[in-house]
Amino acid sequence: MSPIFRIVSPNFQGMGIGLLYGQSPASLRNGRPLGYPVQREMSELETNLAGLEKILLGGPKIAVLTGAGISAESGIPTFRGEDGLWKKHRAEELATPQAFYHAPALVWEWYDWRRGIIASKEPNAGHRALVRWERYFPHFVLITQNVDGLHRRAGSQNVLELHGNIWEVRCTREGTITENYESPLNPIPPLCPACGAMLRPNVVWFGESLPAETLEEAYAASASCDLMFVIGTSAFVQPAASLPLLAAERGVPIVEVNPQPTPLTASADFVFRGRAGDVLPLIDERLPAGSTGG
Ligand code: APR
Repeated sequence: MSPIFRIVSPNFQGMGIGLLYGQSPASLRNGRPLGYPVQREMSELETNLAGLEKILLGGPKIAVLTGAGISAESGIPTFRGEDGLWKKHRAEELATPQAFYHAPALVWEWYDWRRGIIASKEPNAGHRALVRWERYFPHFVLITQNVDGLHRRAGSQNVLELHGNIWEVRCTREGTITENYESPLNPIPPLCPACGAMLRPNVVWFGESLPAETLEEAYAASASCDLMFVIGTSAFVQPAASLPLLAAERGVPIVEVNPQPTPLTASADFVFRGRAGDVLPLIDERLPAGSTGG
């Protein structure tokens, strides 16, 4: 299958660090023989949990990649789900430097709307399970595509935010990054208090580079873990969607938690067809008491 990139970053080189939309390059898929056992159904929940428990009790190095689905149960719309449109616009239309250049107020209104929703929501049981795992496992790296900040609000300490944070703004003239929790924003677009230039959200748009150091750490974690979870992502946006393949290529078990199949399902050894807020606590229960200090 040839790669389908609908948005290609000018920065894309090899594995690339630009934010891309499309399917995983075929060359990055893992080289497992066809017929590798994949457990797909929630009816196999017990088998999945028992198999996973054995691995977890061995104290593996864990990497976790999350997407918008983990925040869905907090009431935050996903990008490609039923509620994914805002005023008939798709995320790929608004989350671009071009959209911001041509219609900064429209783009900021979308972010202002999203910030308003996020501010009124709380982390859910899925976020909280990951907090406990961070405390329990000595080697645990949480990589997220989410900009909502809910992992940190739940209590996760080390979060690699690949796509930035919606609560940070960046001056378009000076590049200064500051936290900003004003909701609703006034004025829109907001202006830099220091120089008066327009601010932009400190998030990564399609065609832009991901923060290099953060991406480097995410690659390193994916390339060195013994177990990788992929939770609540449609796995369509690169380079994040390729990270689990770095683990799968080495024969590392991949655990997918998602009510829907994704392009990564074929690479997964444990597939939980359920909601993160239901499934992660069930996995958490398999850890010895004492993991639940959070
Ligand atoms: N638990 C787990 N997964 C869920 C849940 C849930 N409760 N609800 C929905 N999902 C799954 C959906 O089935 C879907 O596969 O979450 C996924 C959400 O996919 P997207 O909306 O495409 O979100 P994501 O993969 O995070 O998008 C990646 O795209 O627009 C950009 O930069 C933005 O970071 C975002 C990136």
